Order: sequence, then C-alpha cells, then structure tokens
Amino acid sequence: AQGDPDNGAQVFKKCLACHAVGENAKHKVGPHLNDLFGRTAGGLGDYKYSNAMHEAGENGLVWEDETLHDYLADPRGAVKGTKMAFAGLKKEDELRDVVAYLRTFSSE
Ligand code: HEM
Repeated sequence: AQGDPDNGAQVFKKCLACHAVGENAKHKVGPHLNDLFGRTAGGLGDYKYSNAMHEAGENGLVWEDETLHDYLADPRGAVKGTKMAFAGLKKEDELRDVVAYLRTFSSE
C-alpha cells in the first residue's frame, strides 16, 4: 500500500527534535534528510556519523522504502551501534507514511 505523505508530515514531528528536511535544512543532532532515497547510509560528507552507520553503508546499506522501514522500526536493531537515540516507530501505518513523506524530499 502507498503511504500518505500528509499523515507522514505529522509523524515526522517525532523526528523534528533531531532532523530537518526541506529547503535550507541543516544538520541538527542528526543529519538533514533531503535526497535520502538511493543514498548510501552514512553518506553525507559534512555530518559526523557513528562508526556503525559508516560500516552499514560500507556493507551495502542504501536508503530505500524497505531499508528505511526496517531502520525506523528498530534503529538499534537494524544498525547495531547507531547513535540515533530513538526507540523506533511501532505502527506500520506510521512507518509507511513517514517514508512516503521523506520521499517527497528526494529526487529518486
Ligand atoms: C540518522 C531518520 C528520529 C538522531 C538517521 C538516518 C535516518 C533517520 C534516515 C540515517 C541518515 C543518513 O544515513 O544520512 C529518522 C526519522 C526519525 C528519526 C525518520 C523519526 C521517525 C531521530 C531522533 C533523533 C535522531 C528522535 C535524536 C534523538 C539521529 C542521529 C543519526 C540519525 C544522531 C545519526 C546516526 C548514526 O550516525 O549512527 N535518522 N530519525 N533521529 N538520526 Fe534519526
């Protein structure tokens, strides 16, 4: 099923303490989330990721619907050692919708 980006914008409020997205988005505690789709995890050169996130990228983790779903459902399970201090989203509709919202800021 397709996610609902408008609902995803509401879900993204859970991320806003640490992430910006959209025009002029800057890194906060976490990296900005523009142009995420198709990008290797830990791939922004001007943000300081954990070693775990860099290693995940080196091992082939690329952000797509499914990989974002799995990371956001259980960040520390999906990328062991990530410094993203977030328990994860438990509801499938929230996961689907926030991923659809993030896709609106990606060219892919
Ligand atoms: C990393 C999404 C909540 C802090 C990331 C990445 C994504 C993401 C996709 C990887 C980015 C990349 O590889 O360039 C989200 C979403 C959230 C959320 C959609 C809400 C549902 C949070 C919260 C915090 C946070 C609440 C702070 C308490 C971080 C940090 C990283 C990160 C510090 C870097 C992780 C590392 O280097 O291991 N986030 N995040 N995030 N996020 Fe979040």
